Amino acid sequence: NLRVFPTPEATAQAAAEAFARAAREAVSARGAFQVALSGGSTPKLMYRALRGLPDVPWSAVHVYFSDERSVGPDSPDSNYRLAHDELLTHVPVPEAQIHRMEGERRPLEDAARAYAALLPERLDVVLLGMGDDGHTASLFPGTEALQATGRVAANWVPKLNTGRLTFTFPEINAARERWLLVTGAGKAEVLREVQAGEGDYPVARVQDPVWFLDAAAAEPLRRV
Ligand code: 6PG
Repeated sequence: NLRVFPTPEATAQAAAEAFARAAREAVSARGAFQVALSGGSTPKLMYRALRGLPDVPWSAVHVYFSDERSVGPDSPDSNYRLAHDELLTHVPVPEAQIHRMEGERRPLEDAARAYAALLPERLDVVLLGMGDDGHTASLFPGTEALQATGRVAANWVPKLNTGRLTFTFPEINAARERWLLVTGAGKAEVLREVQAGEGDYPVARVQDPVWFLDAAAAEPLRRV
């Protein structure tokens, strides 16, 4: 399920509109929209697009995070802070319905256990990005959390020399939907290999995702 848009802005707008639709559907069907936001820089455009959308049932939206760095909520590296600054302070989601991962907590394993305990039975949508090494959430190639069987894992990432909190693949694949927001030419080659079933990229283990792509990231796919 590949959706390709001309620019990163158009991709973000489309993902924001899909978010609004999914939220309305979930709230009318189940009374709440359980969504996990992702980190990195790509979602920033989507968060900004979301702010301006009408008819989003924000009072029934429950916000989670699919991963977090081992930092506090005020750190410029915090995925929570990105969502807080770019979206959550601009829309009326009740504070009690915003659940950040405690990246600053030590040991990180305690934060992973605590977060797993507060997750809803099933998420409606998990928003994900993809790194240019094919990682998604904080499931990096060659790291232990790739095999984790719980819902949330503390994951040591040698190449970054840091610990991360991350959803596991069982958690990601148990959600109703998985959306992968990938833009920029820098992701194009890995994306082409993933789509062709080549390489052994963690993102390939995300089951039947909806891909929101811009033309630059999707360029090699057009040559098929
Ligand atoms: C993180 C993200 C990560 C991100 C990719 C892509 O904590 O870094 O959750 O999985 O989605 O690294 O990041 P960009 O959007 O910055 O390219």
